Amino acid sequence: MNTSAVAQATPSAHAFTQEARDAIYHAIFSRRDVRGQFLPTPVPDEVLSRILTAAHHAPSVGFMQPWNFLVVRSPDTKRRVHGAFAKAHAEAAGMFEGDRRATYQKLKLEGIVESPVGICITCDRERTGPVVVGRTHMKTMDLYSSVCAVQNLWLAARAEGLGVGWVSIFHQADLQEALGIPKGITPIAYLCVGYVSHFHAKPELETAGWLPRLPMEDLVYFDQWGQRDDQQPLIAHLQRDQAAAQRGRAATA
Ligand SMILES: Cc1cc2nc3c(=O)[nH]c(=O)nc-3n(C[C@H](O)[C@H](O)[C@H](O)COP(=O)(O)O)c2cc1C
Repeated sequence: MNTSAVAQATPSAHAFTQEARDAIYHAIFSRRDVRGQFLPTPVPDEVLSRILTAAHHAPSVGFMQPWNFLVVRSPDTKRRVHGAFAKAHAEAAGMFEGDRRATYQKLKLEGIVESPVGICITCDRERTGPVVVGRTHMKTMDLYSSVCAVQNLWLAARAEGLGVGWVSIFHQADLQEALGIPKGITPIAYLCVGYVSHFHAKPELETAGWLPRLPMEDLVYFDQWGQRDDQQPLIAHLQRDQAAAQRGRAATA
């Protein structure tokens, strides 16, 4: 390879502009799980179409694209979904002890009825037959593919100024019944979607003192599980980037 070919093959030759990179990281760091700030403003179909198309362009194991997108607008359907949530939420409260239970009961963990649109993203594990490239040994890869679709939608929605809240406090069968999802299809995420009055700067669970964001340097190991090395230059970068991320931006410059 000559030198100019090498130069062209460096990762930076394909990097986005600074402005575009900043926009991507801004979407990532300012994305929030939204429960309580939904506005009744309708979501235009062209915007909904863009975020659904972003979801459909997620990676998937063996390119099986196991997802469907069930768009919920009917107040009756939302009420049924909310009923399924309320039952599981009451049970969930009983699983925490003492102060934790009282704090749990104060948390708002869904915006099912007040968000203008619900989107249930599912996984059809049989979509392309029993043998799938990449799913031959780790069978959950199809489920993870649908989760990738969720994240694509979530980030695209943030860029569009739309809040998204993932609700998972359901008995799976109750959610399936509320939405008429057949037994062979797995619901992955019920998402509440809509414009919002504001986005919180931090996860609500962090602000409520439920859990803090973990330090990156505790999470990154080198070469073997559990092996930390604070002398690695990467660690200083991670600390700097995490501090920048806390302020909602990437240290890309
Ligand atoms: C798989 C999954 C399930 C979740 N289920 C719920 C839920 O049922 N209710 C809720 O309020 N938030 C739910 N969340 C949102 C998390 O609580 C939230 O992502 C986390 O607290 C971090 O906050 P952030 O998304 O605003 O950064 C879920 C998130 C994920 C990834």
